[in-house]
Amino acid sequence: MNNRTPLMAGNWKMNLDHLEANHLVQGLAMALSDAGHDYSKCEVLVIPPFTDIRSVQTVVEADNLDIKYGAQDVSIHDNGAYTGEISTDMLTKLGCSYVVMGHSERREYHGESDELVGAKARKVLDAGMTPILCCGEALEIRKAGTHVDFVLGQIRAALAGWSAEDVAKIVIAYEPIWAIGTGETATAEDAQEVCGAIRAALREDFGDATADSTRILYGGSAKPANIKELMAQADIDGALVGGASLKADSFAEMARFYA
Ligand code: 13P
Repeated sequence: MNNRTPLMAGNWKMNLDHLEANHLVQGLAMALSDAGHDYSKCEVLVIPPFTDIRSVQTVVEADNLDIKYGAQDVSIHDNGAYTGEISTDMLTKLGCSYVVMGHSERREYHGESDELVGAKARKVLDAGMTPILCCGEALEIRKAGTHVDFVLGQIRAALAGWSAEDVAKIVIAYEPIWAIGTGETATAEDAQEVCGAIRAALREDFGDATADSTRILYGGSAKPANIKELMAQADIDGALVGGASLKADSFAEMARFYA
C-alpha cells in the first residue's frame, strides 16, 4: 500500500470540438455519479484540445464537478511574438491543473527534445500546475532490449538539476510508442518493468520520499478490459488514456478500476 492517489487521465488528442467536449464532460460526470464514484480513490482528469478548455471550465464550474482538466502542451515563453503558442498564464487563468509535455506525438511530429520537455515541465510547475512528463520507446528500441535505459535517459535528461521536492510534485507517464493507438497493450508485466525501473531511478537520484510520492502512469491502449490488471501493479499509479477516454462510459469504468 502507498499513499499515492491514483490518476485516470484522458488525453483527447486532436478530437472533439467545444460542443462535443461539453457533452463528453457532462456524460462523464453523470456516469461517475450514477456509479457512485469516489474521487478520493481515483482522481479523474480530462485533457482536451486548447479550443475546448473554456467550455470544459464552464461545465465543471457550473455543475461544481470534481473532474479536473488540463492541456496537452504549453509554451516555454511567457508572452509575446510566438505565433500559435499558448502560455502557462493562459492555462492557469482557465483553471487548468495539469499540463502534458513530451508526448511521443509531439516529440515525433514537432521535434521536441528532452531539454525542451524538461523546460516545459519546469514552466508548468512554476505556474502552480502539475506537469505530466511523457516518456516511452519506439518498437525498434523495445526489440533491441534497451527500452529501460532509453526511458530512464529521457527522464534523467528532462529532470537534470531538479530538486527532490520538485520531482515529487510531477507525474510521469510511461507510454511505449508501439502500444499507442495500436490496440496492442503492453502486458501488465512489461508496463510494470519500466514503471518499476523509473521509480528505482527516482529513488537513486532523488531519494525515498520522492520515489514514494511521484505518480507514474502507464499509457498505450489502456482500456476497461485491461485497467484492473495494470492498476494492480506495484508501480503503476494510473493511466494516460487516448481512445478509451473519448467515450464517457468506458472512461468512467476505467476510473472505477477499484470497484
Ligand atoms: P491510446 O490509449 O489511444 O493508445 O493512446 C495512448 C496515449 O497516447 C495517451 O496519451
